Amino acid sequence: MSDYSKGLSTKHLLGIKDLNERDIQLIFETADTFKDVLNRPIKKVPSLRDVTIANVFFENSTRTRLSFELAQKRLSADTINFAASSSSVSKGETLIDTVNNILAMKVDMIVIRHPYPGAGIFLSRKVNAQIVNAGDGAHEHPTQALLDAFSIREKYGDVAGKKIAIIGDILHSRVALSNILCLQKLGAEVMVCGPTTLIPKYIGSLGVKVEFDLLKALNWCDVANMLRIQLERQDIKYFPSLREYTMMYGLNKQILDSLDKEILIMHPGPINRGVEITSDVADSKQSIILDQVENGVAIRMAVLYLLAGQKP
Ligand code: CP
Repeated sequence: MSDYSKGLSTKHLLGIKDLNERDIQLIFETADTFKDVLNRPIKKVPSLRDVTIANVFFENSTRTRLSFELAQKRLSADTINFAASSSSVSKGETLIDTVNNILAMKVDMIVIRHPYPGAGIFLSRKVNAQIVNAGDGAHEHPTQALLDAFSIREKYGDVAGKKIAIIGDILHSRVALSNILCLQKLGAEVMVCGPTTLIPKYIGSLGVKVEFDLLKALNWCDVANMLRIQLERQDIKYFPSLREYTMMYGLNKQILDSLDKEILIMHPGPINRGVEITSDVADSKQSIILDQVENGVAIRMAVLYLLAGQKP
């Protein structure tokens, strides 16, 4: 049994790069306990009843925002939600002023989603609060990677030694980078697959395999994590048309059934049905997409609970 008595090695969660393997295992074991709580008739514990958390979202979100909010409520924290679109940001207020005004209301922790890479890191240096990165541009999405790896562990018992192919728009994906770092820390082998234009040049330096042929990637892996094409982050054309992307990299039932083994199918959401994945694959028994969403609440409860224990 590992010695987790010292808690996490960090007081913020800014990216997977700041966590070590022991931190990740501690988060998983804590999430196991919270998952048991979430399956009870009374799904609530008093652990964070003296903590106030603000969810500060400068970008749209369904899963991450609702999952953080529910995790906070299940832990009995007080929670407030800020959406940039309906705030005084439109009147010219800066990020630091916005957050300092929220903190003046006696808030302890900030969960932030922002379109700019490094927004969470910047805030952690400028304001007096614990910061949780809920996705910063194309940089990191640490809680998504944690819930993804937790879901693989739940299905296979362990992540070590498993082969994970991350397929799609790697270039614009914060999920890809956080998944690569998290899975490698846990001893998995990682491959990225997609069109040349959507695979960043630096990716080889992270120690991942690179494959441009979808069928070869699927035949190699135990788990395929299908990513959405992030059109909202693309200012130029990276492939001729969505139809051609789907012909080359879309996962359909015919391809899945042609493999000589049963692989797990994952997707961080939101899904573009019929583009990177067909409905019959997304809704198949090999898909764990909704298990990922379910596990997101337990993982975020674990992260918030453990960070609260690190309060300076
Ligand atoms: N996976 C994910 O981050 O989804 P949302 O953008 O809906 O939060």
